[in-house]
This record gives sequence, structure tokens and C-alpha cells, in this order.
Amino acid sequence: MLGQLPPITDPNVLVGYANADDAGVYRITDDIAVVLTTDFFTPIVDDPYWFGAIAAANALSDVYAMGARPLAALNIAMFPAQPGFFPSLKEIMHGGIDKMAEAGVSIIGGHTIRDKEPKFGFAVLGVIHPGKILDNSRARVGDAIVLTKKIGTGIISTGVKAGLCSDGVIREFTSSMAMLNRRASEIMLEVGVSTATDVTGFGLIGHLNEVLTASRCRARIFSGQVPFFEEAERLIGLNKVPGGTIANIKSFSSYVTFSEGVSDPERILLNDAQTSGGLLIFVPAGKKEILIGAMQSEGLLAAYIGDVTGELKDDIHIHVEK
Ligand code: CO
Ligand code: CO
Repeated sequence: MLGQLPPITDPNVLVGYANADDAGVYRITDDIAVVLTTDFFTPIVDDPYWFGAIAAANALSDVYAMGARPLAALNIAMFPAQPGFFPSLKEIMHGGIDKMAEAGVSIIGGHTIRDKEPKFGFAVLGVIHPGKILDNSRARVGDAIVLTKKIGTGIISTGVKAGLCSDGVIREFTSSMAMLNRRASEIMLEVGVSTATDVTGFGLIGHLNEVLTASRCRARIFSGQVPFFEEAERLIGLNKVPGGTIANIKSFSSYVTFSEGVSDPERILLNDAQTSGGLLIFVPAGKKEILIGAMQSEGLLAAYIGDVTGELKDDIHIHVEK
């Protein structure tokens, strides 16, 4: 869709849409640039409060992935006209407001329209130094790749809709999606990394591929090191794979090769469309242990899952080993 936009000629646009980056960046002065992003979607969990909280965490995630600090947000809501829906909308708003408060972000306005299917999210404004933007073109050969949340929320969401998941599973995947990427982002900035993105609708392989394409690099991933929700593997066995995940497998298969030991469920999970997934961080190899240690000492998940192995030489951007 973005391909239809006119070319960007304003020199103050530091990050536009060319490299599928997480957010746009616009320079205001030599020291200050603003980061702009928006995200909204249909309910991902049954509980309206947690839907609102996840929508907020998800909208903020692109700002954190750029290495920026979110400051303010506008609310975007679409909801059915039936008065019976109003209590749910109130709860959705409540969840969004609480999560934005946790992030230290002020909601300063918004817009609501009527629609048959509810949708909720935010447009977010962040700030960053123009010289410190972690855009997709900054991965380097030799970087280690670190992931900060488990993969499989798309498949679990499909399983939940089919009534196949326990309360415990629903709690775990809900709290993973509602968790802010804030501390993970702050720690990666303290350590100093090459770049980062967040794992969302295009799955681990799709978002990894965006960075590798923009950086003209290739990578090796170890499927056995990628943190997956066990429940998602069970649900794959029951054929609960969402359409977005199947579309990802088709879209990205020409960029990926798999070693024989990589199982079919793993191949599906690596393409699973995530909501409010973790940061995918590219860190110089010498700082890998420092980054992972700093995250784990605060109880955050940080898994080393592979490396940037060389420059691009053909259409294969990613090789997956067991
Ligand atoms: Co993103
Ligand atoms: Co986004």
C-alpha cells in the first residue's frame, strides 16, 4: 500500500517507509527528532480491559524498537453503536489508559467512530536524538541476534477463539502481549546495540528479513534456541494456524532455507503472526553476554537465537538450523 505514496523529498524526514521501519522519524532541530507511529486492531483477547492494555503496549512497541522514548498518544477507537457495548468500551479504555500511564505516556486526545466490529489502538509520538536512531539498515556482520518475548501468540489466539486453551495459558499469553518493551529498550540503549525491531504481524522471519534486507546482510537462526509457547506447538497439531501465519509462510519462503532437523511446527512458529511481540535486537557479539545478563538480572526474557553471518550474496537471507 505504501508503494503508492509520493516520493519523500523533505530532508528532515530521517526515516520514511522505504525500509519497512517500525516508525517514521522527522528532524525538528539538530538535537531533536520526533518519532511517529500508529497501530490499532480488532479484539485479540476476550477480556476488554486486557484488549485495551495490549493495544497500548503494541502501539508503543514501535517507538521502543527505534530506540526512542514515547511522550504522548492519541486514542483511536471504533465500536458498535449498541448501548450494550458501552461497558466493554469503558473497560477497553481503562486498560489502554492504565498501560499508557505505566509507560509514562500522556493520552492527549483521540478520535472515535462507530463501526460494526470494535477496533482500538493509538497513534504515538516519541522523541529521539537524530544521531541515535535504530533504523532497520544498521545490522552488521557479526552481530548476535537476541529475542525478548516468546513466539506463538497468533496460534494461541486462534486456539483461544476455538475454546481449546486453559485459563493458565490465556493468562500467560495475555501478560506476555501486555508487557511493555520499555525496559528491554532502555537496557539495549544502555548496553549499545546495532539496531532493533519488534516482532509483530509478519512473524519472526518476516521482521528479521526486513532488517536483513535494509542492512544488506544474511543471518543464521537456531530454531532450538527460539523461545516458543509450548501451547502453540500443541495447537499446531490440532491445525489451529491463523490465516496471517499461513500468508507469512508463503510470502517469506523464498528467503529462507531450513536444515533437515528443523521440525514442521518450528517452521510454522517462526512465521507465526505476533501481536505485541518482543524486541529482536542486533548486538555486536562482544556485548551479547552483557545485554543478556542485564536483561535476565531484571527478570526479563532474553534469548540468543542466532547471528548475522555475512553480507547478502543471493536471495537467501535466512538459514535456520536446529
Ligand atoms: Co514494528
Ligand atoms: Co506497527
